[in-house]
Amino acid sequence: MNTPPQTQPQKRPIIFSAMQPTSGSGGGLTIGNYIGALKNWVELQKDYDCVYGVVDLHALTIHPEPAALRKQTLDVAAMYIASGIDPEKSLVFLQSHVPAHAQCAWLLNCFASMGECQKMTQFKEKSEKHSARVGLFTYPVLQAADILLYQANLVPVGEDQKQHLELSRNLAERFNHHYSETFTVPEVFIPKVGARVMSLQDPTKKMSKSDENPKATIFLTDSADEIRNKIKRAVTDSGSEIRSGDDRPALTNLLELYGVATGTSVEAAEQHFLGKGYAEFKAELADAMVAMVEPITKRFHAIRNDKAALNAILKKGAEEANRRAMRTLRKAYKKMGLVELE
Ligand code: TYM
Repeated sequence: MNTPPQTQPQKRPIIFSAMQPTSGSGGGLTIGNYIGALKNWVELQKDYDCVYGVVDLHALTIHPEPAALRKQTLDVAAMYIASGIDPEKSLVFLQSHVPAHAQCAWLLNCFASMGECQKMTQFKEKSEKHSARVGLFTYPVLQAADILLYQANLVPVGEDQKQHLELSRNLAERFNHHYSETFTVPEVFIPKVGARVMSLQDPTKKMSKSDENPKATIFLTDSADEIRNKIKRAVTDSGSEIRSGDDRPALTNLLELYGVATGTSVEAAEQHFLGKGYAEFKAELADAMVAMVEPITKRFHAIRNDKAALNAILKKGAEEANRRAMRTLRKAYKKMGLVELE
């Protein structure tokens, strides 16, 4: 009898991405984080081998209060799962549980130039607000280590991370060129719509979890009333048309939010609101935002309250992440000439 040919399980391409648990005044994840990144992470699980970290070591660069950092780190992990990251399919872990990240960052620090770190926009902006520590300076090098350790093929992020990703690619290429093929050079995945969700109070500024004006940002933990109020108070452009365009930054942002939340294109949304006023548009937008956020918030509270289950997920994630990261770190150590004992 002929035995059927053994089919090797196809290796899926690898995704790595991550979020900081805090970036200043606290808060939690925002609809900017969700639309620009997390929502896409969920969809990409179908076709990719996904690794998603909570980068608590990155958060240390701006000295968060320890209790707040602890809480927000677990909040972010729970929010990943509440948003649809399936820990059975994808790896979810905390960066500080995998020592290889800091170790690999050291290796890459020996490859990065002062000049390329100095020109990072995020470093320039943050070092104006906080006294610039060395950690803030080499922050993007640690980010490169995060990505390269998992041999990621693709990194789904919002537009603000493009420059950091370029540095990760450069460091991988430089290392590979100097020694030999060691790290996969990652591609960046930036969504066509929602890559840069803007502040509801100043549409020239990115929506951020650390905005001092609470009305500027919708958090994934906001109640339906809070969301409705923030949309109602969102700034608009002069005139009364529900139309996007370079001359209409506020409406462009709100229409993109509507489009993402309802699964329609901006053009279709413009068509839908033709001849209608701001009040009607905002009411429908608020409904759409609530419908998008509310189920996530509900799941978040359930997951966050089950401490044992969250713990178990992060423990399993850490074990597997350590195994995978160490494999790459060992390879890099060896290439660089560090001694491996028999
Ligand atoms: P962070 O924590 O600031 O943001 C997490 C993700 O959310 C996206 N994002 C947005 N997208 C659209 N509109 C917005 N207003 C908005 N705000 C945030 C970000 O682009 C990002 O994708 N340095 C990273 C964290 C990091 C990382 C990594 C990312 C560390 N290591 C490795 C990818 C791979 C950061 O501070 O993201």
